[in-house]
Amino acid sequence: MSRPEHAAGNASSSAAGIRIRRFTAREWPAYRALRLRSLADAPQAFGSSYAAEEAWAQELWMARLTAAEVSSRDCPLVAESAGPDGALLGLLWAKCDAKDAGIVNLFQMWVAPEARGRGVAAALVDEALAWARSIGARLVQLGVVVDNQAAIQLYLRKGFGNVGTPEPIRPGSPLLEQTMQLQLRQ
Ligand SMILES: CC(C)(COP(=O)(O)OP(=O)(O)OC[C@H]1O[C@@H](n2cnc3c(N)ncnc32)[C@H](O)[C@@H]1OP(=O)(O)O)[C@@H](O)C(=O)NCCC(=O)NCCS
Repeated sequence: MSRPEHAAGNASSSAAGIRIRRFTAREWPAYRALRLRSLADAPQAFGSSYAAEEAWAQELWMARLTAAEVSSRDCPLVAESAGPDGALLGLLWAKCDAKDAGIVNLFQMWVAPEARGRGVAAALVDEALAWARSIGARLVQLGVVVDNQAAIQLYLRKGFGNVGTPEPIRPGSPLLEQTMQLQLRQ
């Protein structure tokens, strides 16, 4: 299966000094490290947990990125410093809904604390939206914990709106998650 032609295959960004691009399959150790860092840093923001993903076998991380590299339904994005250190500073995984390929779900949104407030998340979302448009998606959606003001403001700024009422982020959790959606076309 070929992957859609889109800027996410190359580097791009609207945040100064930052490049947004797709993770390649061979970068799975870096993806693993970044994802685990995000889960340790912001445990309340995600449906998964550090303990759960830290226990995953290497083969699973490898398989995740390998599948994404050849899939037209996944777009794992990384934000990296355009400077000489090339530090990895943010993550966002856009993925077609399993039941409806016209819907793209956003997962794993995270920016390293030292890079926040510089437009990195905005650039990641822009790239994910451009990818969603490039594959003909009509709707982009995500879940955000109701007291996560920084993330809610980010998504509102990008044109997302609340849909439905908040629900537990996982069964039995007191954390409530709000679905937000952005219509790309009718
Ligand atoms: C939410 C998060 C991704 C924002 O990343 P960031 O790179 O700092 O965000 P940006 O600099 O791109 O800001 C984009 C917009 O988001 C909003 N925003 C970001 N941080 C904010 C904050 N602390 N308070 C209020 N609004 C904020 C603003 O609207 C901002 O636009 P503006 O500066 O033009 O007003 C980051 O704080 C983070 O990783 N948090 C922990 C993980 C998390 O909550 N993930 C979301 C899961 S749904």
